[in-house]
Amino acid sequence: MLKAKTSEPTPVCRSDQVPELGKFSLTVLYQGVKREALLLRFKGVVYGYLNQCAHMPKALDCEASHVFDDSGRYIQCSMHSICYDPVTGASVSALCEGKKLKAFKVTETDEWVYLVDKKTQLVV
Ligand code: FES
Repeated sequence: MLKAKTSEPTPVCRSDQVPELGKFSLTVLYQGVKREALLLRFKGVVYGYLNQCAHMPKALDCEASHVFDDSGRYIQCSMHSICYDPVTGASVSALCEGKKLKAFKVTETDEWVYLVDKKTQLVV
């Protein structure tokens, strides 16, 4: 079922479902196309990204259950280990220099994470 298009924030999950350096998987309609996506928490803040590497059309967690590198500083694709800045989604690896993960806006209020992105709808 597709969540109705609305300007109101759409609740996605409880805050404790997105632990620090953890992930929460969801499906969204992003610019009209159904896509897999992730909520990630880094330094206490939740970020929303499509679950697709900028290098190749692979899920960031296609080869591993985690999405952060061992240092906890970068999102790391499990296929060829390209790293991304968790805040901007920009690649910090030479192989994909100048490329970014596709982000969507989320916010967190009263222990819930909400989707607040006009180009993105939650698919439930
Ligand atoms: S597909 Fe992600 S690093 Fe190559």
